[in-house]
Amino acid sequence: MKIGFLGFGEVASTLSEGLQEHGATVATCVEGRSTRTKNLAGKSGVNLYKTNIELAEVSDILISTVTPFQAIKVAQEVGKYTNGIYVDINNVSPKTTKKALSFIDNGKIVDASIIGSVKKVLNALIIASGEYANQFTELNNYGMNIKVIGGEIGQASAIKMFRSSFTKGISALLFETIYSAYKMGIDEEVLKYIAKTECEGFKDSSISRIISSSMHAKRRGEEMEEVIELISEYIDPKMSNATEKFFKSLYKNVNDLKTRPGDYKEVFKLMDKK
Ligand SMILES: NC(=O)c1ccc[n+]([C@@H]2O[C@H](COP(=O)([O-])OP(=O)(O)OC[C@H]3O[C@@H](n4cnc5c(N)ncnc54)[C@H](OP(=O)(O)O)[C@@H]3O)[C@@H](O)[C@H]2O)c1
Repeated sequence: MKIGFLGFGEVASTLSEGLQEHGATVATCVEGRSTRTKNLAGKSGVNLYKTNIELAEVSDILISTVTPFQAIKVAQEVGKYTNGIYVDINNVSPKTTKKALSFIDNGKIVDASIIGSVKKVLNALIIASGEYANQFTELNNYGMNIKVIGGEIGQASAIKMFRSSFTKGISALLFETIYSAYKMGIDEEVLKYIAKTECEGFKDSSISRIISSSMHAKRRGEEMEEVIELISEYIDPKMSNATEKFFKSLYKNVNDLKTRPGDYKEVFKLMDKK
């Protein structure tokens, strides 16, 4: 089984490592890419092709793991040359997914979404939809955890977008609430009293949400644009608009932290310095 990755960042490098351990042949193309991407590919030992087109020609399964804004562009670049199954796994709306996949001439297309983050593991849950989704599940034989949720393109990305609307909205609200409480010196009490009416583990998950918001604010702000596009088809997206605004402003305040802080208060201290 030959698996190709378009883009070679966190997702591709994590999945590649496990896939190779399970006997798959993995390849990518890093021509013209950043030093980080080249280093990730070098470290993982995957095969390298000179162009994305050559990669598309030889791959049994070609997975697009670029960035939301590049999903359409790469699909357009390789669409005529893709021989195997083309999987779009980027965090994009159903509309963007359909647009990207419309460029794949052979029509062997799959809409897929990672639920949560890959967190350095091969078996992160991935949901998939479309006529060819079952063929993508062949990668479960190589250690992946892909679940088919429907036969139509757009279903997997819609689930992901609605989930994002909820989880990113909660994270933004938590950050704003607990930061304000911290400024009054009562953040721990507020967390304790909210936890009384929430589920078990609320405090730990809230702290984790505050910290991860400060590490991925840019990406989350961009992903909210895709969420807004979907929600606006049904309702005025007031909450999603606020969440997008929150993450874009958080990025301006703290940039994206490169190393995970040990405590949420470290993030708040950074906010105070601005
Ligand atoms: N990380 C997660 O846990 C996670 C979870 C769910 C969904 N996703 C989605 O999965 C996708 C990949 O995420 P990631 O975390 O792996 O992102 P990432 O670490 O930022 O990696 C993106 C990769 O795509 C490359 N790239 C960008 N534009 C390209 C183009 N036009 N042609 C070829 N390569 C291109 C980048 O190269 P340069 O370095 O040169 O820019 C980089 O290697 C995103 O759409 C994200 O929303 C990620």
